Amino acid sequence: MSIRTVFTTAAFGLAAVAAAYAAEPQEMRQEMMKHVGGATGAMAKMVKGEDEFDQAKVIEALTTISNTMAEFPDQFPEGSETGMDTEAAPAIWENKDDFDAKAMALKEDADAGIANPPADLDGLKAMFGPLTKNCGSCHETYRLKKEG
Ligand code: HEC
Repeated sequence: MSIRTVFTTAAFGLAAVAAAYAAEPQEMRQEMMKHVGGATGAMAKMVKGEDEFDQAKVIEALTTISNTMAEFPDQFPEGSETGMDTEAAPAIWENKDDFDAKAMALKEDADAGIANPPADLDGLKAMFGPLTKNCGSCHETYRLKKEG
């Protein structure tokens, strides 16, 4: 089974997968962000009216985000600053506490959404804006711009 198959079939227990398959941290964190991106995309489709509002799917997406962000800060050990097309900025290793705090801020917003899930599309819209502000506020400092 390829590592990609493992990741697409298992939304949770990413650290266990890492331990079992010894994926490089650069690979791990990129896969984790793809999960976060996928979960965010599922909610974005509802916000845009492309998909019906579905509270269970919203909770599932928020759970993926929360579980992933709990483990995301651990994927930046010394020596993983470059390689495997990483877009991680050197600033992460200079300001790890601030980086970790930004990861936890997203996790906490997702947790708040799980504890008090939006009841309808308006509720989702009200939650989605502030939740996704976390993405940009971390990426602008800690993710390198894609070249070309
Ligand atoms: C705490 C910081 C942080 C937060 C918060 C964060 N990201 Fe990221 N994101 C990163 C970093 C760092 C990378 C680059 C990882 C690498 O290439 O090693 C990244 C990369 C990505 C990628 C590219 C993955 C790939 O390699 O294909 C996507 C998609 C993404 N983030 C989506 C999101 C979304 C959506 C959110 C908000 C719901 C979010 N991120 C929140 C730090 C963050």
